[in-house]
Amino acid sequence: MKAIVINRHGGPEVLEPADLPPPQPKQGETLVRILAAAANPADGKWRAGLFESFAPVGFPHVLGYDVAGEVIGGEGFAPGARVFGMLDPFRKGGYAEQVAVAADHLAPVPDGLDLPTAAAIPTAGLTGLQMVERGLDLQAGQRLMLTGALGAVGRFALFAAKERGVHVTAAVRAAHVEAVRALGADDVIALGKEDWSGASFDHVIDTVGGEAVGALCRHLKPGGRVLTAATTPIPSDELPSAPEFFAVVPSGPDAVRLGAAVAQGRIAVPIARILPLDQAAEAQRLVDAGGLNGKVILTN
Ligand SMILES: NC(=O)c1ccc[n+]([C@@H]2O[C@H](COP(=O)([O-])OP(=O)(O)OC[C@H]3O[C@@H](n4cnc5c(N)ncnc54)[C@H](OP(=O)(O)O)[C@@H]3O)[C@@H](O)[C@H]2O)c1
Repeated sequence: MKAIVINRHGGPEVLEPADLPPPQPKQGETLVRILAAAANPADGKWRAGLFESFAPVGFPHVLGYDVAGEVIGGEGFAPGARVFGMLDPFRKGGYAEQVAVAADHLAPVPDGLDLPTAAAIPTAGLTGLQMVERGLDLQAGQRLMLTGALGAVGRFALFAAKERGVHVTAAVRAAHVEAVRALGADDVIALGKEDWSGASFDHVIDTVGGEAVGALCRHLKPGGRVLTAATTPIPSDELPSAPEFFAVVPSGPDAVRLGAAVAQGRIAVPIARILPLDQAAEAQRLVDAGGLNGKVILTN
């Protein structure tokens, strides 16, 4: 099968086409024909070798966490079924024509949802949802500070927090203030430009990292937690508690709920660009540069 692989770490130019043996599904796995795959910020970090010290990859390595497509065979779903989901982050394999996935990491694509949109959901959606539900178990009436709330993860965290009746103060780029208010944030801070003089926060969900986030975290109540998905560290001096890194896990049941929310129009998933798989390097350049306000999707 056709795939886009890396044979060394580096910039987007290390992505190259390859012809690989098609994956053979093991027990409990589904074989999926990939028709759409998302490019995520993590792809560029794996490509650059950022995680090499604790999770070395063998070459050739196929990047890509998120897929949507049709079932070819294996277990869990009927051949031809439309499915989507997040792949094991250590195995990956989204930048290809086929992948074998644990069946319980997949969900059916709801009727009416197109495959590029389904591929845009899993990693970002699962991260946002799981930070709210599994990470902090936020409760109605609690006050959350959420950074990067207009990003892919941030939008889903905002959605999941509002579903639970949480009061959300979004900290975003100054240019994003109005847009995030329109998405339902109760209060908005221009990150790095404004301090906060309102009520203290029960907890923080961070998707940005860095000093400006650390400065706002000083408005955390005693006992409050800072959960971060970002790889840029938050300086922890003077904070009531040390930031905790949150790692998303694939989940078919969580993907079912996210797919339903998107199909029902309860949350929008903007797509910035759709490119053919052989333009994976261009997709990663776009994602690495940021400022897209939407996902980049690769199609077969
Ligand atoms: N730990 C995990 O399990 C996990 C899972 C998923 C994602 N992540 C990480 O979480 C982060 C966010 O992912 P994502 O998919 O949501 O990315 P994204 O869609 O690019 O969203 C990031 C958002 O943060 C904003 N932002 C970036 N730097 C900022 C700054 N200095 N000040 C204010 N706003 C800033 C971006 O604005 P612009 O677009 O204007 O730059 C964008 O709105 C990435 O680092 C990703 O690798 C971690």
